[in-house]
Amino acid sequence: MNESIKQFEAEKIARIEEFGKDTEFQQRSRDWLEESMRKSYVYNFSWLGRPIIQNPIDIMAMQEIIWEVKPDLIIETGIAHGGSLIFSASMLELVASCTGSQGEVVGIDIDIRPHNRKAIECHPMSKRITMIQGSSIAPEIIAQVKTKARGKNRVLICMDSNHTHNHVLAELEAYAPLTSVGSYCVVFDTFVEDVPADVFKNRPWHPGNSPKTAVWEYLKTHPEFEIDKSIPHKLLITVAPDGYLKRVPLP
Ligand SMILES: C[S@@+](CC[C@H](N)C(=O)[O-])C[C@H]1O[C@@H](n2cnc3c(N)ncnc32)[C@H](O)[C@@H]1O
Repeated sequence: MNESIKQFEAEKIARIEEFGKDTEFQQRSRDWLEESMRKSYVYNFSWLGRPIIQNPIDIMAMQEIIWEVKPDLIIETGIAHGGSLIFSASMLELVASCTGSQGEVVGIDIDIRPHNRKAIECHPMSKRITMIQGSSIAPEIIAQVKTKARGKNRVLICMDSNHTHNHVLAELEAYAPLTSVGSYCVVFDTFVEDVPADVFKNRPWHPGNSPKTAVWEYLKTHPEFEIDKSIPHKLLITVAPDGYLKRVPLP
């Protein structure tokens, strides 16, 4: 590697490590995130024309992961308007056009509204998308997804449906094992654990009953996953602290 590129990378790593120790910057970032959630900021955006209910900074991390992993399958729970499905499909389209590596996306939602389904099906990226309607933790839905995953080598998982502890834990039990070594299982909205309960007053999830508590529970018995702390340290403003789970080889 060229010396100046090496130096650029080394400086980046050192800076991210510093951010990981910078409790004041972290607290300010959490404060900003809390305020943004109270004001429904994450509903402000779209991806290639479809509303995407995501923090834009996490989307940057997902772009980096997809480029690094070059998945042949992305499994997403929680479709809503389809923005994250279109994002994933468009990233796979870019990966394919740059490298020839082909991938597809499977999205699961308990309630795919007809107008959303139609808009997703009419989108140019729909050629890489399959949608499955049903609860992501229903045995028949899990079976369909496992059938799609058969023979795939680089599988990435994104969980963004019901954010209660029990639901996320059940999703982790069902889908995390499909994650390929070197790839990620991304659990969104773990930050619910870190903000006051009234931020989500009309929701069943809250501190103590959140995606993060589910991740912690799951990891007690799954050493094949490690929390990649470098991602939240880099992003600072993220809805997924402790949610970027990397599958590592076991000795
Ligand atoms: C936050 S939205 C997903 C946003 C989407 N990933 C995006 O980035 O635009 C959550 C979605 O999860 C779905 N959902 C809720 N409970 C579910 C369940 N048990 N199984 C599958 N999907 C569920 C809801 O219908 C809703 O569309």
